[in-house]
Amino acid sequence: MSTLLNDEVGTQLQAEMALVKSELPHVDFEPAKATELEQDRPFEQKRYLVDGEIREWTGAQVDVETPLDLGRESDVIGSYPALGKKEALEMIESASSAYQCGLGAWPQSTPSERVAAVMNFANSMNDVREEVVKRISLEVGKSLADAETEFDRTVEYIKRSCLETLTLANESGEVIEEGGVQATVSRESIGTVLCMGPFNYPLNETFATMLPALLMGNTVVMKPPKKGVLLFDPLLDLFKESFPKGVVNVITGDGQEVITPIMESGKVDVLAFIGTPQVADIVAGNHPEPHRLKKILGLGAKNPAVIFSDADLDATIPKAVKGSLSFNGQRCTALKLHFVDRHIAGEYVERFASAVEGLKVGQPWEDGVKITPLAEGPAKIAFLRELIEDAVSKGAQIMNEEGGTVNGNLFTPAVLYPVTSEMRIFKEEQFGPIVPIVPVNSPGEAVDYLASLPYGQQVSLFGQDERRLRNMALTAQKLVGRVNLNDECKRGPDILPFTGKRSAAMGTLSIRGALEEFSIESVLAMPTKSKED
Ligand code: G3H
Repeated sequence: MSTLLNDEVGTQLQAEMALVKSELPHVDFEPAKATELEQDRPFEQKRYLVDGEIREWTGAQVDVETPLDLGRESDVIGSYPALGKKEALEMIESASSAYQCGLGAWPQSTPSERVAAVMNFANSMNDVREEVVKRISLEVGKSLADAETEFDRTVEYIKRSCLETLTLANESGEVIEEGGVQATVSRESIGTVLCMGPFNYPLNETFATMLPALLMGNTVVMKPPKKGVLLFDPLLDLFKESFPKGVVNVITGDGQEVITPIMESGKVDVLAFIGTPQVADIVAGNHPEPHRLKKILGLGAKNPAVIFSDADLDATIPKAVKGSLSFNGQRCTALKLHFVDRHIAGEYVERFASAVEGLKVGQPWEDGVKITPLAEGPAKIAFLRELIEDAVSKGAQIMNEEGGTVNGNLFTPAVLYPVTSEMRIFKEEQFGPIVPIVPVNSPGEAVDYLASLPYGQQVSLFGQDERRLRNMALTAQKLVGRVNLNDECKRGPDILPFTGKRSAAMGTLSIRGALEEFSIESVLAMPTKSKED
């Protein structure tokens, strides 16, 4: 691949990326009135993608219920194929044959050729943007604004990954000379990847592993999350048109039924999974040769916010509220426990509770809505109620009006105070709208807490004495993958390494990190030519 070609493609990519945001319209719909929703079940998916073909499915279907209140009798909005073991084995066979031990057309193609295919896919994603955004909102209850952000961030992530792929390819031309050897090091594909994303960012987190895997020449079987399946249906045609036969395969159905045979086949080389540590262990445990399964994982987290006595509460409260309750707290990066210096705890709690009371609770299409129905419905609500009841029985109070009240799948956030280490909410990951606040004598108590957690993802430190913050940050950086000073925990910007220790994550995801994770270094070496030669 010539440098000139890279530069041309790169310049074109950069120009396209600059246009992306300005061109995008806002998705506007009110589901109860939208034409397609006047039918009872508007989203019936009866097809699947395998071996380069979109096949019709006439077998059993899995019903999809929306968590939203559409004002209709049934919450079922459609269904998708309940594929089984036979189709699962076809999927992995298809991906494995397309890879062909590295001899397949896709792993043998140049980085520029793969970038061209992925760019074609990313550009055509905008044709189905409105449909996918609506489906994200209908399936997982995300506000339309957040669903749009998820979609656009994903397209940008893919395009930036394309640019980075070209940069990596250019770097592989660098000649290293040492000890009588001259060599170049290129990054090559690993094999067949099973990609499984989470319900909270069904599009973004699935594609943030899947597209880098494809860019590096791997082939893929992708299984959409349990909630957030139908949004991939409009993308099946784009996969088929953009990639060679067998390179992308998409399986739907009961996780245990379809994923077990795929893993037991021994043909998965890389597991890219974002979800709970328990499910990751079950999935990976089914591989017959675990020593050669590479795992790239995003798992649990219980990120604390630590509020020092000198914190500027005017600046801190909005960030702490956003960090705790964006998408109803259903984010791995959400702030899930607040340690507040006892001297300011009263004021912090009062101001936090009042800010939470100002958050609009409603359906995703309502203007300015911040808290929307919970994707996992009644089972999740029962779990959150249990956590609250446990805390209240041990001395905590709900500090905000209406906190913890339930209306359909809407759960008004509950600010709990004072929380102690005896309560379940102290250690259990709520992954939902509960904000537990712990008064502490010294912010240093948070460091012991971080060390005691099974998760080492992130922490946020809020205060004005930069020296104190940095001191604690130096210690905390040994325990977690990111320390945020006067800011909420978060994944972005996507060029930063997103990682974690212990049961939080394995591997690093970022624009470059993902490309490196889904490839291995391969060396081309020869003896250095001496002057006599
Ligand atoms: O659920 C985990 C997500 O990666 C969080 O991403 O911090 O950008 O919302 P975010």
